[in-house]
Amino acid sequence: MSSFQRFNFKTLDEIRSKAAELGVNIKFSEDLSPLAKPVKIGGITAPNSIAVLPMEGCDSERDGSPSELVKRRYCRFASGGAGLIWYEACAVVHEGRANPLQMFLTKDNVGAFAELVKSSNMAAMKANGSDHKPVNILQLTHSGRYSRPDDKPAPIIPQHDPLLDPRVGLGSDSPVVTDEYLDALVEKYVESAVLAREAGFDGVDIKSSHRYLLSELLASHTREGKYGGSFENRTRFLLSTIKAVRKAVGDDFIIACRFNVFDAHPYPYGFGVDRLDCIKPDLTEPLALAKLLVENGVNLLSCSAGNPYYRFPHVTRPFDTPTIGGEIPDEHPLQSVARLFEFTRKVQEAAGEVAVVGNGYSWLRHFLANAGAANLADGSCSMVGIGRQAFAYPDAPKDIFTKGRMEPGKCCIACSKCTQIMRDHGRTGCVVRDSEVYLPLFNEARKNASRS
Ligand SMILES: Cc1cc2nc3c(=O)[nH]c(=O)nc-3n(C[C@H](O)[C@H](O)[C@H](O)COP(=O)(O)O)c2cc1C
Ligand code: SF4
Repeated sequence: MSSFQRFNFKTLDEIRSKAAELGVNIKFSEDLSPLAKPVKIGGITAPNSIAVLPMEGCDSERDGSPSELVKRRYCRFASGGAGLIWYEACAVVHEGRANPLQMFLTKDNVGAFAELVKSSNMAAMKANGSDHKPVNILQLTHSGRYSRPDDKPAPIIPQHDPLLDPRVGLGSDSPVVTDEYLDALVEKYVESAVLAREAGFDGVDIKSSHRYLLSELLASHTREGKYGGSFENRTRFLLSTIKAVRKAVGDDFIIACRFNVFDAHPYPYGFGVDRLDCIKPDLTEPLALAKLLVENGVNLLSCSAGNPYYRFPHVTRPFDTPTIGGEIPDEHPLQSVARLFEFTRKVQEAAGEVAVVGNGYSWLRHFLANAGAANLADGSCSMVGIGRQAFAYPDAPKDIFTKGRMEPGKCCIACSKCTQIMRDHGRTGCVVRDSEVYLPLFNEARKNASRS
């Protein structure tokens, strides 16, 4: 029988004893001071150990520049006092956009991005003191199989996948992306990184998570040629891109990498999975990759897992309520949280001194501060990353630092409505705690989705 349960803990003791009953390795500390510790990332210091994780709003302007909703989101994150803001997925080429409103930085709109970074830094200083400047990282992406630049699927795939191809309307004779396209794409990452530096970001992330193009390349066991098959070939594109970006941006710019350590997708189409059982992780290759990333000059890491467009979304973001039609997981959400913590712990071990941002905290509500402090204290991560919690409760870091606690009534309730908006191709944010803005957008997206 599944041990799945919704969150129902009033005290730290209650959640502690449930973790003990399930036998999961989640610790909770009453001393929250580790969260306030500054963190060195490359040559820059983040003012504290809380990071906002990248989360797409699907709400930029058509040319990819920041809209009013985007500016509002990042100023709220910045005012909230996090030490690092990991900006959402930003496409490096038009055909790699996941939706027509995905962020897209170009030489024509770099000025608008510079304004965004400047106003969010100003908001951070105004709310948290003139010496509070968060580290700002821009996540660069190509959506690969999930590209939808003009509002209809336009997949770009590195290998065929009998489970995923039919879902984006592909047959077994559809072309896979060529080596020549990938060779040329390296330069697009370089151009975007140079533009990000011009816009005032402190670094870029070469995103390789959640089964978008670079993530799927890591799993392209059946692809032929120099980007498929062996571990060396499957990691070639990511490592070549990192080297090329480093050459172009110099040593004083952060290169980050958010990568999937566990696809929860069957071999030979998944990365970091047991060859016989796809819901069992095998971290041999992901940890070897973490070491290679560090050797190649990556200054910041974050690991994630799963494929948000397929089965097992709890592997990426533990929840109480799935999206419409989604499955109830076969495990307790604390087990899903513990899996993400364990991944980060292992990657941090492999990465040594390089900072690793942990994730999977939002489901814990206000107890995330206690779990995060415990993980920081024993070296299980270098920063505590909050995703949905930042949509719901952007002031959480400020409350932790000034009041010594988070307010339960302001927390994310893991209802998946922000993800539902994405599924419905709308503009997303917290439907529950920021309802004035996002409840109408949720209803609009639902209406459009049920019409189509
Ligand atoms: C609406 C939404 C958008 C997201 N967009 C991104 C993204 O652009 N890039 C990324 O790496 N992860 C993205 N994620 C995943 C989050 O960064 C994070 O890993 C996940 O939500 C788990 O963290 P949490 O439990 O704190 O929410 C997104 C998640 C949600 C719910
Ligand atoms: S809609 Fe709000 S409360 Fe629901 S999961 Fe998203 S951020 Fe959390």
